[in-house]
Amino acid sequence: MRTSTIIAIDGPAASGKGTLAKRLAAHFGMAYLDTGLLYRAVARDVAAAGDALDDPASALNAASKLDAQSLDDPALRGPLAGDAASIVAKIPQVRAALLEYQRSFARADGGAVLDGRDIGTVVCPDADIKIFVTASDEARATRRHMEHESRGETIAFEKVLEDLRRRDSRDKERNIAPLEQAAGALFLDTTTLDADQAFAAALLLIEHARRRS
Ligand code: DC
Repeated sequence: MRTSTIIAIDGPAASGKGTLAKRLAAHFGMAYLDTGLLYRAVARDVAAAGDALDDPASALNAASKLDAQSLDDPALRGPLAGDAASIVAKIPQVRAALLEYQRSFARADGGAVLDGRDIGTVVCPDADIKIFVTASDEARATRRHMEHESRGETIAFEKVLEDLRRRDSRDKERNIAPLEQAAGALFLDTTTLDADQAFAAALLLIEHARRRS
């Protein structure tokens, strides 16, 4: 990989994009940014201020003041924070406020891997490699359901599926930077793949694409 290589990975929740992005970054020795954490942190800060998640002024204030050190907060993980993030992510001013941080991260020495919903389309449209990762609704809900169970939480599979579909619709149907496959993105369906198989498949796709370019 060239030292300035950017790998953009997009896809819906529980598609396996985060695990894959992290592994690709480690494999190629590149920096890694989970951009979903930025929106999750904005939602956390809006809620902490006692404001509604769809309040543009409060969300812009939180996005402008976002402390990158606070992205390690374990409270940001988990589906409730993800759902809240998808509400603040609809606000154009929030997206604009977070754009430069993401772009400057992407210019990191040694290259960078970023994952999210609009990396290949908006944040880094000139990325060297773009991958769109997806999986069937049922496979993604099964993964989420197993995560709940491993934390000892009881929740019906149908509820997990319904929540996932609602979040997908919000992310795909918003007016600004909706979730969609970027032009030229490699397509990876992880429905029947575990994390190791998805990583191996992505490496093959990348190798193939680089030989053709
Ligand atoms: O990837 P994630 O589940 O942590 O993302 C949480 C929400 O944040 C997601 O439902 C939509 C929003 N998001 C976004 O709009 N754009 C991104 N690049 C990343 C996340």
